[in-house]
Amino acid sequence: MIEELLKQMTLKEKIGQLAKLSPYFLIEELEKEAAGPIKELNLDTEKIFSIGSILGVRNAEEMIKIQERYLKRSRLKIPLLFMGDVIHGFKTIFPVPLAIASSFDPETARTIARVSAREANVSGLHLTFSPMADFVRDPRWGRVVESFGESKYLLGEFAKAMVEGYQEEQQGGERLGACVKHFACYGASEGGRDYNTVDVSRVWLHNYYLSGYREAVKAKTKAIMTAFTLFEGVPCTINRYLLRSVLREDWGFEGVTISDYDSLQETIKHGVSLNQEDAAKNGIAAGLDIEMASVCYLNHLEKLVKSGEVKIELIDEAVLRILKLKEDLGLFADPYRGASPKKEKEYLMHPDHLAKSEAVARDAIVLMKNNGVLPLRKNAKLALIGPFVTNRLTNGPWSWHGYNDENNSLADVFIKNNRQMTLAKSGSDLNDYTPEDLQALKAADIIILYLGEDRKLSGEAHSLTNISLPDGQVRLYQLARKLDKPTVVILQNGRPMVLEDILDCDAIMETWFLGSRSSEAIHQTLVGENNPSGKLPMSFPANIGQIPVYHDHLLTGRPVTDPENPGEYESRYLDQENNPRFKFAHGLSYSTFSVTDLRLDKDEMEKDDQIQLKVRITNHGPYPGKETILLFLTDHFARISLPVIELKQSQKIFLKTGETREVEFTITLDDTMYYLGDGSRVYDKGDFTVHVGTNMENLLNAKFRLI
Ligand code: GLC
Repeated sequence: MIEELLKQMTLKEKIGQLAKLSPYFLIEELEKEAAGPIKELNLDTEKIFSIGSILGVRNAEEMIKIQERYLKRSRLKIPLLFMGDVIHGFKTIFPVPLAIASSFDPETARTIARVSAREANVSGLHLTFSPMADFVRDPRWGRVVESFGESKYLLGEFAKAMVEGYQEEQQGGERLGACVKHFACYGASEGGRDYNTVDVSRVWLHNYYLSGYREAVKAKTKAIMTAFTLFEGVPCTINRYLLRSVLREDWGFEGVTISDYDSLQETIKHGVSLNQEDAAKNGIAAGLDIEMASVCYLNHLEKLVKSGEVKIELIDEAVLRILKLKEDLGLFADPYRGASPKKEKEYLMHPDHLAKSEAVARDAIVLMKNNGVLPLRKNAKLALIGPFVTNRLTNGPWSWHGYNDENNSLADVFIKNNRQMTLAKSGSDLNDYTPEDLQALKAADIIILYLGEDRKLSGEAHSLTNISLPDGQVRLYQLARKLDKPTVVILQNGRPMVLEDILDCDAIMETWFLGSRSSEAIHQTLVGENNPSGKLPMSFPANIGQIPVYHDHLLTGRPVTDPENPGEYESRYLDQENNPRFKFAHGLSYSTFSVTDLRLDKDEMEKDDQIQLKVRITNHGPYPGKETILLFLTDHFARISLPVIELKQSQKIFLKTGETREVEFTITLDDTMYYLGDGSRVYDKGDFTVHVGTNMENLLNAKFRLI
């Protein structure tokens, strides 16, 4: 069918399918407003009504209106594809991706994707620019909030779960195409400065930075978005090695490639395209199908084809992929598929969705320190201070369609639960509190400080060189300590922070941005209705100078052999030990868990064989709760230097108080493989150590040999 359709299309109609613009240009009432940008972009009505997809739409009514208006003028009635940023929820907002990763449970990602698809689809969207599968190691980068952290294993598992969750058809027919991003290595922006230069070797590319996109492609993501940055000096958006050699030839990806916002035109600023016409030529030659927001294709491809500089076959292959995507998404059968103002009223912020958001939030909370002050004792008089006490802005970055004003603040929830509060007042520094407030603070048994980052300090274009707590917040903390009262610090932030100023507090709870039911989940955890089970998906440095600091580093030729007594000529700093302040996978529970009896059914494995590993985990109480058992591997000898330790598998389980469970893992050749710079996946015979535990501190280990 679509091959026939392609044959009927004119060159202009084909080129139009390669363009994606804001809905702004197709909304009748905005015609006057759009006149300026239309002129500036050298567009005309014919071009506008030839485009193939729309960037963002607010609701079903708007989508229906635009689709109707567009189809009326479309000669071949090829429907528009509506895409948008549904990153951690649509109207019901879930915890940010970094918080989702803190659950160490990919099933939470699947849940979020399914609820997002239900809400976004009835609101007129067919595809989302998610999951963001960028591998990250630098907390200065504002977009770590959108990532799944420093473990390539977790990155792959979460990316896969999200793609499947979006794309599996639900009972009402709802589903959303996934567009994994930002291909590739955007997370390696130098200095953690957004959009900055990237310099990654092909060994690092294949072993770490491609991990998430690779799993998303294996999970059949419908599309992939190129990064603003470059690889090997060539912008990713026009990078033939990435878009053709890796994506099409190595991985067999048949979906659609989409530029990031304006990133094709920005290859001119990169100094690799001479002008818009050159950018158009570079993009189509590299295999970029859809150009987002800029109009190099719309304004220059026709001439390039007519002059013979661009072969029509390149246009046809791109258009065919786009038509196939529209067919896959059911748009030829029903251009309005999913959009339903009536269902919107039923689905958006549905109590069941909010309950799911609250459940994920509970699982995402990371208890970083607790000297026993938590859970809060019932009759304790509490004081709640810090900038976020009465804050409802808990949705965090990339939650456009959600609205914060329906959220509860933490103060709201404490008051609703009739907790004895001597003070519940937002403030960012001492001068936000009166002498009466100070009296109220003194009257409290426990002081809770709700500190961290304003949501505008993380996300796109929000990188920082200072990731410590703001001075005003530190002064509030010091005041609380001076009163010599138990202090609990709750953190709301979008990145690992340097927490040296508050380390002597009695408890630290990392809550990231937890979405629509953030305050409820935090309250339930503080009072012990929820037993925290989250773990850090990224290391927290002791100071900015340690960055990048991460768990799966290489041994080097001069490793530190004894951190307590390091040798002079070892790989270390003179003024700071190598370990981060809080390690990857750090996370406490209100219960004590122990992992014992690690057994392997054999200590030698051939390549087609497998090893059964068993271990026992016990919940010694006092609370029932969830815990994650982690399986790490060390490969002691390979063709390239490999990490000292790497997370390969994990299982999150629930245990009643006093319960012991036997947990099994299967180790196969797959767990021992790695990539060479040419993209080939290999393994080496030799010795391995398997480590099992619930964090990186107390690991049981055993050795085996690959023969
Ligand atoms: C932005 C982001 C990308 C987003 C796109 C569309 O600049 O880089 O993640 O999906 O534009 O909003």
